[in-house]
Amino acid sequence: MSNTATTDRTHQSEVIYASLGPNERAMIDKVHNSWLRRLFIRFVGIKLQLQFTGWLQYLMPVPITLGLFLLVGLIHLVGLPGLASVLIWLPLILTAIILFDIVTCRFCIRLPEPLPKARSGEDIFTLMRERRSCRAYQTRPLTLAHEQALKARIAMHLQESRLGNAPIRLEWVKAPITVWPVVNARYFLVAIAPAEYNRTAILDVGRTLQKIVLDTTQMGLGTCWIGPGADHRSVKTHLGERFDEEKDSIICLCAIGYKSWYTPLFIRFFNAQLHKRLPLSRLFFADNAMKEALKIDESPWEAFDRCFESCRWAPSSYNGQTTRCIAHKKDTQVRLDFYATTSSRYYAAVATGIWCANWEMGGEALGIKGDFVKLPPQERKIKAGEELPPHYEISWLCETLI
Ligand SMILES: Cc1cc2nc3c(=O)[nH]c(=O)nc-3n(C[C@H](O)[C@H](O)[C@H](O)COP(=O)(O)O)c2cc1C
Repeated sequence: MSNTATTDRTHQSEVIYASLGPNERAMIDKVHNSWLRRLFIRFVGIKLQLQFTGWLQYLMPVPITLGLFLLVGLIHLVGLPGLASVLIWLPLILTAIILFDIVTCRFCIRLPEPLPKARSGEDIFTLMRERRSCRAYQTRPLTLAHEQALKARIAMHLQESRLGNAPIRLEWVKAPITVWPVVNARYFLVAIAPAEYNRTAILDVGRTLQKIVLDTTQMGLGTCWIGPGADHRSVKTHLGERFDEEKDSIICLCAIGYKSWYTPLFIRFFNAQLHKRLPLSRLFFADNAMKEALKIDESPWEAFDRCFESCRWAPSSYNGQTTRCIAHKKDTQVRLDFYATTSSRYYAAVATGIWCANWEMGGEALGIKGDFVKLPPQERKIKAGEELPPHYEISWLCETLI
């Protein structure tokens, strides 16, 4: 193998690498063998290329449909034409659905849909519990009233106090950024943190953006967080001069718009699969070993009521559910320590930030106020010499409860 060929391949891999988001790059950086690293980059590149053609959402059911046609053909050949003539309806219906999805969602030939109703009468717990990722949007633009109201809420939340000092930005983009597997999204918020890695800034992205997501939900609009499914080349193109490669890092996006009934079959399946949640007993613990489930119906925890459920239903990248909480009480003080279950540098931190927002907003709705603080390990230990779980994020302290 000539040196030139190897250099060319390395160059091509590095071009693909440069076009990836920080999370994908962080995963690739864990591979140190140069051959494996190149292979991994190529694999990620092909996967993303397929995702970002905008066709994969519609073509995912095609292999199953073809397989069913084949199976029905075989059944016919082995001498069971009666059974085959019944079963043939299955792949035929699937084919019809695939064609319908392409016409209505890809080419947007469809009947207009009504504007959704605002959910202003609903309490914050209901909104947190019932928010769902919206992955198929109406093609109509946002009304001026909605756009202005949203921008006002964004400005308000960006001015609120943050967990850290690093600046974060939310850029409003009105353009069809390429995302996966979401279809027909035309409005996005792009969350940007400083290029130099800062975990607290990423927690802040999660916390601030989740508050905006809930305001948007209350207005009756749909949202979808997008991390690994964002085509960073497309994001940067649409951001133009608002993005500085040297200083900025795109953490994630949030698609915003009116939910559409026209949803490709694959997305319906995807939505259903990614909406399950772990039980509370696997999310909230009473000890640092995370063995003893927190007794949420006993004092003092029962005062927090639906806050536990609201964290349980918080969104996380591909529903990874990477946040855990260890709750302690000492004298009159209640403390919750939030941890991530993985060493993921970006999306686990965003997910914890979302938990922080839900916990905080739930507490406020109940009239319970607390503060977020980063505690050193010795202050998180219950017993001397105790082992703490890895990936500590932040703690929430509340004095007034007992
Ligand atoms: C940081 C983050 C990144 C996400 N990235 C994507 C994505 O790229 N594509 C997507 O369709 N959904 C994405 N999601 C949405 C999750 O898949 C979704 O929240 C989760 O499956 C739970 O489903 P629910 O939001 O309907 O409750 C992301 C969520 C978070 C918090």
